[in-house]
Amino acid sequence: MNETVSGSEAQLKIVVVGHVDHGKSTLIGRLLHDTGSLPDGKLEELKATSAKRGMPLEWSFVLDAFQAERDQAITIDTTQIWFKTKRRSCVIIDAPGHREFLKNMVSGAASADAAILVIDAEEGVREQSRRHAYLLHLLGLRQIAVVVNKMDVVGHDAGRFAAVRDEITSYLAEIGVTPSVIIPISARDGDNLATRSAATGWFSGPTLLESLDLFEVASAPDDLPLRLPIQDVYKFDERRILVGRVETGGVTVGDTLLFSPSNRTARVRSIEAWNAPEPPRSAWAGQAVGITLDEQIFAERGDIVSHVDFPPKLSNVFRATLFWLGTEPLSVGSTFKLKLATDEATVTVQAIDRVIDTQTLAGGNAESVQRNEVAEVVLRSREMLALDEHRTSAATGRFVLVDTYDTVGGGVVSMEGYPDQRQLAKAKGTNLYEVDHLLTPAARSWRNGHRGAVVWFTGLSGAGKSTLAMRVEQRLFAKGYQTYVLDGDNVRRGLNADLGFAPEDRAENIRRVGEVASLFADAGQIVITAFISPYQTDRDRARAAAPCAFHEVYIKADLETCESRDPKGLYKRARSGEIAEFTGVSAPYEAPSAPELVVDTSTLSVEESVDAVVAYIENHIALKGTVEIAKAVAGE
Ligand code: ADX
Repeated sequence: MNETVSGSEAQLKIVVVGHVDHGKSTLIGRLLHDTGSLPDGKLEELKATSAKRGMPLEWSFVLDAFQAERDQAITIDTTQIWFKTKRRSCVIIDAPGHREFLKNMVSGAASADAAILVIDAEEGVREQSRRHAYLLHLLGLRQIAVVVNKMDVVGHDAGRFAAVRDEITSYLAEIGVTPSVIIPISARDGDNLATRSAATGWFSGPTLLESLDLFEVASAPDDLPLRLPIQDVYKFDERRILVGRVETGGVTVGDTLLFSPSNRTARVRSIEAWNAPEPPRSAWAGQAVGITLDEQIFAERGDIVSHVDFPPKLSNVFRATLFWLGTEPLSVGSTFKLKLATDEATVTVQAIDRVIDTQTLAGGNAESVQRNEVAEVVLRSREMLALDEHRTSAATGRFVLVDTYDTVGGGVVSMEGYPDQRQLAKAKGTNLYEVDHLLTPAARSWRNGHRGAVVWFTGLSGAGKSTLAMRVEQRLFAKGYQTYVLDGDNVRRGLNADLGFAPEDRAENIRRVGEVASLFADAGQIVITAFISPYQTDRDRARAAAPCAFHEVYIKADLETCESRDPKGLYKRARSGEIAEFTGVSAPYEAPSAPELVVDTSTLSVEESVDAVVAYIENHIALKGTVEIAKAVAGE
């Protein structure tokens, strides 16, 4: 594919970024000339054109020719421009703007190995210098050469160079980037590009070409876990060939493959190749392959193929650091098309946790994200997604957001604080046959005078869940209801004694309690559960376990209130770092989006709160006025 090799060396892919008019095009034009990469006669042609227009030779005209090519090929967002250094061939991926750059980086069409950040010596670090640098950092590009351009305009002044160098160094340091080199250049005159300039005798560093030769091409990630996003499924007579590009790792005939998000497995029967005399046994990162399977499982575009031992995570909610490009601000509740590897899904912005100004790097809370800002957000999709952390798997850990046809943002995935939901997805046992009860739920309701129900309390620690649950239980009992409380601190001593507070443990905690609560409800009880249950997805799963009997009650109190109550002294210990992953402090809490009842304990007294829950139960769960009737029927 893109792996053209010059000699034995893989090609270095370079992206050139910087503020408008700081000299990107001139730099590229001059680099091509100085490396002898311009086609024969091009220079003469340029000179003639410039003379005709009565202008001095402009190196950026070289790029205009490429630009014209690009304009004709409307499907191409990137121009690829080749030149050679002493060590190898390089390709400049020139994207017209940072929107295209972001799109290309994310789609993998133009993953760069290194970047040149161009800064005007006279103007210094400007808005886009910072923005582009931040984008490079966000996408994980670590090999950055900074060139301070137009040194001729500032009289090759060492002091001015030092000032610009310090300015960009301190910005980059704040975002955790160390530039490989910072070079004073004049792109127009060719100073310090291919040859050392006499005008900057005070500079002892390398030329730009020398420093490019010190960069490494990202090695083909063969030794990473397999990730093969399915691009297409072709049907030839009876055979189905799954086609895609191996992003990382390798695949060999006979391997058992796991398909995500469907969680199905099948073995590789063959690897198909075009124009190969023999079908290959294996395929590796960077190769486009077609595979056939030993079983006809359902697989489709968007699936991510891995091995069973190192799968991507499955989740319908994740955190993202997002670069926002939309003209309209981004706000909670907005919906977009997410494109991740070859998958497409609809996602909704669930929360905006922090907005970062790429200029000042100030971060804070905000209701919305403005164009060109970076934000830490939580995104939720309806369906399960196969996701990787960006830092462990770039190709399957980055995405773009599309609104109608426009790319409006892009970013990287983080699963911090959120569980992998894969193990919750399916039953391990086989040959199971459901047995029917001879008693109907109606019979039990008639006997009890109320339906079986799950009254699911959710809220922060210290919101009052346990206190209210126990009192509601007491009241209901006094009124003749069959009722029982399942409380987090109690259940975690027994049934769930093997679970801690890592995201996966909490998810499993709630899965089990959801199932147990559903059994209680089936048995005719009104079961009140008091668990933080911080994830909406887990609560939805608990609801699905008792679909007609589930009542979500948000025991609402903000973090400040809970922390001031701190009944168990846990917030204090969490703040001091003694307790890790504490909900609200260092672990997420997702407030319910559509609870059946909200009880705000920061404004209601305990009695008023109990009244509210009991009233709800009497209205929705009791067979109205029938407790006495039921007692009578039961012969009590
Ligand atoms: S849940 O998140 O998995 O739903 P659960 O309700 O079972 O939590 O347990 C919460 C209780 O465990 C809290 O009331 C508190 O007493 C205790 N606890 C101990 N460590 C933590 C922690 N890291 N985060 C939240 N609660 C904790």
